[in-house]
Amino acid sequence: MTGRTIALAVLISGNGSNLQAIIDNCERGAIRARVACVVSNDAQAFGLERARRAGIPTRVLPHEGFRERAAFDAALADILDEYDPDLIVLAGFMRVLGPEFVARYPNRIINLHPSLLPKYKGLDTHARALAAGDKTHGASVHFVTADLDGGPLIAQASVAVEPGDTVESLQQKVHEKEHEILPRAIGWIADDRIRVVGGRVLLDGRAVAH
Ligand code: GRF
Repeated sequence: MTGRTIALAVLISGNGSNLQAIIDNCERGAIRARVACVVSNDAQAFGLERARRAGIPTRVLPHEGFRERAAFDAALADILDEYDPDLIVLAGFMRVLGPEFVARYPNRIINLHPSLLPKYKGLDTHARALAAGDKTHGASVHFVTADLDGGPLIAQASVAVEPGDTVESLQQKVHEKEHEILPRAIGWIADDRIRVVGGRVLLDGRAVAH
């Protein structure tokens, strides 16, 4: 992926503030990437509007129309392959993708997760960090493997959990970090600086510090 602009497919389910951060970074030339398409499993997702405003093709694939996960995944792959993306970015995409889908795009799917993985895989991460009395919390970007929220870590950023923090205040702080680390990770991949060796991510040949 050197010497050219990589094509991204961004998958969303909601507000799309992270999609917006990607679009903004692409538009100002901060990363050598372009968003080739945005796919949402929810027709009401505001992120679709963000994409339309930026002139990006959008597709909606409602998961309710599929009885089996594998059928949804296959339909999603058909859509994505129309746009021939170099990288598939899960930016607030609230569906689990099955092993066949993941195997189809090895080391070509990344996910943003609102916790300092391996802590708090799954849902309700902010509430869980608060309930545990954690002093730090944060966000992670990782390659997607069949191991849910368990793939090789590319980037993380932490925030301080302060007295009086709520789920909402913590979410806000984590979001600000997400808007930095997701475009940064995409930029590294676009610049061909990332390798996955033995299940670990190397940046410029060195293990990324977490
Ligand atoms: C982010 O917090 C992400 O970590 C989580 O869903 C949220 C999406 O936010 N998986 P947005 O739609 O990008 O604003």
